[in-house]
Parts: sequence; structure tokens; C-alpha cells
Amino acid sequence: MFEKFCSERIKKTPSSFIREILKVTQNHDIISFAGGLPNPISFPQEELKVSMNRIADTFGAKIYQYSTTEGLESLRQFIADRYKKNHNMDISIDNIIITTGSQQALDLIGKVFVNEGDKVMVENPSYLGLLQAFCVYGADFVQTKLDDDGLNIEELKKTLKEHKPKVAYLIPNFQNPTGLTYTKENRAKVFECIKDEDMILIQDDPYGELKFEDDEKLPYIGVNQSKKNIYLGSFSKIVTPGMRLGYVIADKEVIRLLETAKQAADLHSNIFGQYLIADYLLNNDLDAHIEKIKKLYKEQAAAMVSAMKEFFPPEVKFTQPKGGMFTWVTLREGMDVIKLFDKAIEKKVAFVPGHPFYVNPKNVNTLRLNYTNADSETIKEGIKRLSEAIKEI
Ligand SMILES: Cc1ncc(COP(=O)(O)O)c(C=O)c1O
Repeated sequence: MFEKFCSERIKKTPSSFIREILKVTQNHDIISFAGGLPNPISFPQEELKVSMNRIADTFGAKIYQYSTTEGLESLRQFIADRYKKNHNMDISIDNIIITTGSQQALDLIGKVFVNEGDKVMVENPSYLGLLQAFCVYGADFVQTKLDDDGLNIEELKKTLKEHKPKVAYLIPNFQNPTGLTYTKENRAKVFECIKDEDMILIQDDPYGELKFEDDEKLPYIGVNQSKKNIYLGSFSKIVTPGMRLGYVIADKEVIRLLETAKQAADLHSNIFGQYLIADYLLNNDLDAHIEKIKKLYKEQAAAMVSAMKEFFPPEVKFTQPKGGMFTWVTLREGMDVIKLFDKAIEKKVAFVPGHPFYVNPKNVNTLRLNYTNADSETIKEGIKRLSEAIKEI
């Protein structure tokens, strides 16, 4: 009935595949590797309860009042200090805007920079939430191959030359959906290729803090070397996703543009949540908390990798994540992952078929598995069921 009223924008935007899958998995006795949910035991619930009381006592009505678009100053100051310390970033609070999750940051960036038909370079495969967000603004996506060590440099050069993208969107750390991370060398090569391009580079980094090994820290691409770099961060995976708080770090001019777009979207992000997270961050040891999450996810990732090694047929390939929340599985060529999905649901295990992560999905034989939201025993049982489904298909 409403089709005739719909904008062209919404008509061409696919609804999120994952949300659809989550509906299936919620109703049954299913082991789900489908969502990207953090493990709820990683939420600092007791500390947040203390913070809730403290902000109510300290700030009174302010925590319930309208606020500024750019976000709470103490929260932006915390972010600025952390990025100065951890990434040697040359920034102040004027380079930061708080957003309603980094998903909103993607939408706002699309609103500000993407016109109908503008070329946007993304990894192949890429984060479906970005594909959906930019699709609304008519982005013309070009995908560049992702190898085990990062972006494929030959393809990158070709893409830049042929398509002259206006915007590039990369997830250099523990990418969603593949779990892959760009090496230091690959990052340097990528910057070498793009540094003279007239192009905005978005580095979306919700998983960078969840690095399992304490070896060498990997720098952002072109950090402090390009005014056209935009960095996205989020509290979803390191504190709580339900507060919907993320942030953009960028040139002041970009922040002002995003502010205008955000005013039109929601005036400002939930101020209660901002006070709460700021208080939590200022009164607790975030690094110690992240260490606990890393330990938990490292064990869960190891359980999944070991179960895949034990049960999967040898022709099935998978990435071995060194951080983040996902592993990416490649089946034998020609195998239909949708058929596998149906069979897996019969066996009460769910995953995300690779389709929504590609711009032009064809003969898709890949799938994404999330390991953060089940304990090791459940992971083993789920992988066993999935292996049986693979063998039957
Ligand atoms: C790569 C990437 N970007 C952005 C987001 C959105 O995160 P947020 O909860 O901060 O909106 C996600 C969520 O899973 C993600 O994987």
C-alpha cells in the first residue's frame, strides 16, 4: 500500500539481512554465530550502576536535559587524550563529535559527502552496515580485494586509476566480516598509493582495541599526515552497545559539517548515556576492563578455530582472527551457501551467508561466524552441527 509513497532512496535500500536472520535465530533453540553481539558478561554492569547513581547525584537535571550537538565535553576530552596517548594523534576536542553509535557516523558521513552516483571504494567483502548506509545516498561502490595481509595493492592501484573514488571506507583492524587485519607494511603501502589522491579516507575501527596479542601496535593509515582522514570509534564493543555511543575524529571543518547533518538527524546523542559512559571511563580503568574482554574473546576464538580444524572438511578454509569478533569461512567453489544456511537451521545452528557483504553477490560460497556470544562448549557443539550440514550439502 505504501510503495507508491516511498522515496526512490528507500526503495533501492536493502533491509539488513542480519536483522532478518536474527529474527529466525531468536525464536528457536538455535546456536547462533550470526549476530555481532558482544558477550553480555563483558558489560561492566556493577560499575555502570555506580556511575548511574553518581551522575544523578552530581549533575541532577542536566542528565535529562537537551544538550549540544557535538557531545559532552568530558567524553570528548577522554577520547582526545586516549588517541593522543595511544595513537600519537595530533587532536583536540574540536576534532571530535559524539554520534549515536558509529553506525550513525557512517550515515552522517554519507549525508555530508556522498551524492548520487559518487564512487565509493570499499573492501571486498565489506561491512554491510556501511553498504546499507551509503546506498541510501546513491553511492556507486567499487570493491577492492582484501588479502590476508590487507588491501590488495595491485587492485587498489587499478581501482584508484579507473574509478577515481571520492571516498574510501576501510576497516584495517579485525575487519567485519573477515576478521582480517592489515599488516604495518600493507598500511604503509596503502598510504603511499592514496596520499596524492583527492579522496576522503574513512577508517572505521570498532574492533582495534580487541587485539588478542600484546605485540606491536599497528598505526592508522596516514595518521597525522592527511587532513582528509576520518576516524571512527565506538564504545559498543568495549563498554556497551546499548548506549549507542560512538564518535568521529576528523578535521574541524569535517566536524562542523557532521554537526549540521546531526542537527537534522537527532539534535544530539542521548545525553544520559554520554554522562554515564564519561563517568564510567573517568572512574574506572578502561584498559584493565578491555584486557578482560580480550582474554574472553581470545579463548572463544581459539575454541572456534580448534573446532573448525577438528570438524570441517579439509577443503573448507577460514581466517584465524587475531582480534575482534569474527571469522570468515570459504566453502568449496560452487557450493551454495544459502542451501547450507537452510540445512544449518534444520540442525539448529545459524550464521550469516556472505551475500550482504558484497556489492554484487554472485556464486557466494562464503559465510561469517561470530564467536563472542557463546561459551567454548557451545561453540564446539555449533561447529560440529555446522560441519554435519556442510558434509550433507
Ligand atoms: C565495522 C563496523 N562499523 C560500525 C559498526 C556499528 O557499530 P556501533 O554499535 O558503534 O553503531 C559495526 C557494528 O558491528 C561494525 O562492525
